[in-house]
Order: sequence, then structure tokens, then C-alpha cells
Amino acid sequence: MNITMIGTGYVGLVTGACLAEFGHSVICMDKDESKIEKLRQGEIPIYEPGLDALVAKNVTDGRLSFSTDMGESVRSAQAVFIAVGTPSSRRGDGYADLTYIYAAARDLAPYLRDYTVVVDKSTVPVGTARQVERVVREANPDAEFDVVSNPEFLREGAAINDFMRPDRVVLGVDSVRAAEVMKDVYNPLYLISTPFVITGLETAELIKYASNAFLSLKISFINEMANVCEAVGADVIDLAKAVGLDGRIGGKFLHAGPGYGGSCFPKDTLALLRIAQENGVAVRSVEAAVEINAAQKARMVKKIRDALGGSEAGKTIAALGLTFKPETDDLRDSPALTILPPLLEKGARIQAHDPQGMKETAKMFPDFIYVKNAYEACENADAVVLFTEWNQYRALDLQELKSRMKSSIFIDLRNVYSPKQMKDAGFEYFGVGRG
Ligand code: UGA
Repeated sequence: MNITMIGTGYVGLVTGACLAEFGHSVICMDKDESKIEKLRQGEIPIYEPGLDALVAKNVTDGRLSFSTDMGESVRSAQAVFIAVGTPSSRRGDGYADLTYIYAAARDLAPYLRDYTVVVDKSTVPVGTARQVERVVREANPDAEFDVVSNPEFLREGAAINDFMRPDRVVLGVDSVRAAEVMKDVYNPLYLISTPFVITGLETAELIKYASNAFLSLKISFINEMANVCEAVGADVIDLAKAVGLDGRIGGKFLHAGPGYGGSCFPKDTLALLRIAQENGVAVRSVEAAVEINAAQKARMVKKIRDALGGSEAGKTIAALGLTFKPETDDLRDSPALTILPPLLEKGARIQAHDPQGMKETAKMFPDFIYVKNAYEACENADAVVLFTEWNQYRALDLQELKSRMKSSIFIDLRNVYSPKQMKDAGFEYFGVGRG
């Protein structure tokens, strides 16, 4: 099957490479010439484990290619995916900016030949698929096509596995014919008995927001429980484990921490609130999740300040991890980059390390000091703060670390270490929700 992916960002590139791996012939198309040129040279613009090898393999096998030419890309395709960005609008009001989606729809329309399915892959507000349909129809009244909503559920850092072994595939369709094409697209998943949820366009669009909102809610819930644990001397790890063992609740996404970040939860929760508001409905649970998340980040600033004896002025903080989670170079809405700036402003010196995120962080925060590894970050530090649970921070040589530090304060915002282990190693240890 011939498939075209419009947009070679995170979602477009992962989806394109994985569909090529399924055996389809895929063209990844982008207007950005330098990006396409780099991709042709084998340069992958994002850090995602396994993606470079998957792209290289499928390019070599002749199933994956890159193009800036919309006509060439769309003419022979049976399915055209729109996977362009939907950033939060510049007004900062939570609305998703759909400019790129509609531009892609308008631009692809003239090249539709035989029956084609136009697939909305980007996360978009309810009603967008119908709007895309109108835009394509206006631009090419004779085109024979259907629009499908096919939300993605890829986690950065685990995207390929999430694509190849998903919990479910959601297809919002208006016609049986479109559903049949989409089943062909995902045939390998059909064969491994992946559940397919086939529904209307609006429902599919809302499923994506509801899923991300519910996961955000789970995180905010456990973060509040962590705060209760700290107040009463309980341990949130044991609590989350026991609560999560109830099959009705489930143990995933119950890790207390500095609050969620990334390009999805913060943006999608706000977009869902806007959708609800526009339709005269309140979603108070999600409103609360958003508020709790902001409060959690502020609470982490205070946690660090308190651990430093009430003031960060003149103190050196070793910051381990800058990205919003491990195995990605994504810094968008990263908790570290919300928590560190107020400390810097009040006179702290920040010695930072991250395996993937330092180059970009340096552009935003030139006043941090960037070092080669966790141990260098701890040189003369008054406190070390673990922000992101990269594997290389999970088994640190604690004695080596301590010997480099001025004091022995360890603030573990991801609960990687156990309080006992840290006490035994001579650290003054602060976790999240650990008594
Ligand atoms: C999220 C969803 O998990 C994907 O299913 C979805 O497809 C994607 O958004 C998207 O909409 O494109 P992602 O943002 O890559 O994926 O990362 P997550 O693993 O979900 O983590 C999000 C944030 O929550 C991170 O800051 C992480 O540290 C935090 N988190 C996660 C916690 O604080 N506690 C947890 O228990 C889990």
C-alpha cells in the first residue's frame, strides 16, 4: 500500500518509519527542505531510541523515502496522514493552533486522484476532522476521499514499541470503505489481535484528550497523596503499589514526582478544558489536575529551598536531568526548567547535566553551568537534585558523589533511591512523599 505522511516531526517520523516496517511504501513529506535533506543523509532530527536504525533499514529496503514535493507524495497514495504540529496557540489560552493542519489539507487536496483516505494523526480538537473534510472538498470538489481520525498513543522514549504493540488502535470513521483501508494500513496489528475501536469522528478525537487527561489526573492524584504522605509520615511508593494492585485502578502512572511535563499532557489538558468550556460543560477533575500540577512544581522549589536551610542564595545546586523524562531530548514543559529558574534568580548557582538535553537548554538558560557527568555536577555542590530518572543516574557511586560535594543533601524528585540506602550512605535525603 502507498502511504504518505505529511509532517516529519516526532509523530510523523515514527509513524512513517513503523508503517514502512509493516511493509507499506511510505513517503514522509515536509515543506522544510533542510530537514528533508538531513533525513535523506540519514540524520534524525529527534532523539528516540531505535528510530535511526528503523529509518535506515526501511530506506535501504526501499520502502521509506523523503520528499518536499506535495504532488509527487500524494498522487499515488491510498492513505495520506496529516501529522503536522498543533502547538498551543500563541494567545496562551489553551486552544490548539490548527493553522498547519488546514494548510496541509488545502495543499494536498489538488493532488488526490483515486479514492484516498485522509487521516488526521495530529492531536486535534473535536470537530477538526469535519473541518478538514470541508477544506479538502472546497479545494478539490471532485476528489473522492474520506477523512479518518486516528489518534496516536506514543510515549516519547518508547514510541516504536508503543506503535508496534499498542493497547488499542482507535479509528474515527464515517464510512465502511475508509475503515477497510485503515484495517489494511494496520493489518499486522490486526494479526496480533490488537483491539480496534472503530467509532465516529468526534468520539475518536475526544478519546485522545480523555486518555491524556485521565493519565494526568492519575499523576496529580498520586502527587497529592505524596504530599499527604509527607505530612503524616507515610510512604507513597508503598501506598501506590498497594493501591495500584487493585485491578480496577492499575499501578501505571502512579509515580509521584515533580509534576508532569512534556509536549502532550500540559497542552492536551488545557485543550480539553477549552473544548468543554466552549460547549458549556465543566470538567472540574481536569481543572484540578492542571492546578495541582502547577502547585507541585512550586512545591518542589520550596522543597529544595527548605532542604538548603531556607535560602538558595549563594548555594550550588547539582541538577541531574533536564529533559521532561528519560530517553528523549524533549525539554518542552520540563519540570526541571520550571523549578530551576526561580532558584537561579534568587542567587543559586546551577551545575547541570543531562545526557541529551544540555545543548538546547543552554540556549534558553545560558547562566547554568553545563558539565560532562553527574559527578562533575556535584563538584562543591551544596545539594544534588535528581530531576529526570535517566538510567545513568540510577546507580550512581554515592561515595564518589559525596566526596565531591560541599554538603550531603540529596533531593530525589523521582524517588529513584530508597531513604534507607541514602541514610546508610551518609546523605540527608529528601524524596517525594516518603515520610
Ligand atoms: C503521553 C502519553 O503517555 C502517550 O500515550 C501519548 O500518546 C502522548 O503523551 C501524546 O499525546 O503524544 P509522553 O508525553 O511522551 O506521552 O510521556 P509520558 O510517559 O506519558 O510522561 C508524561 C509526563 O508525566 C512526564 O513528565 C513524566 O515524568 C510524568 N509522569 C508519568 C509522572 O510524573 N508519573 C508517572 O507515573 C508517569
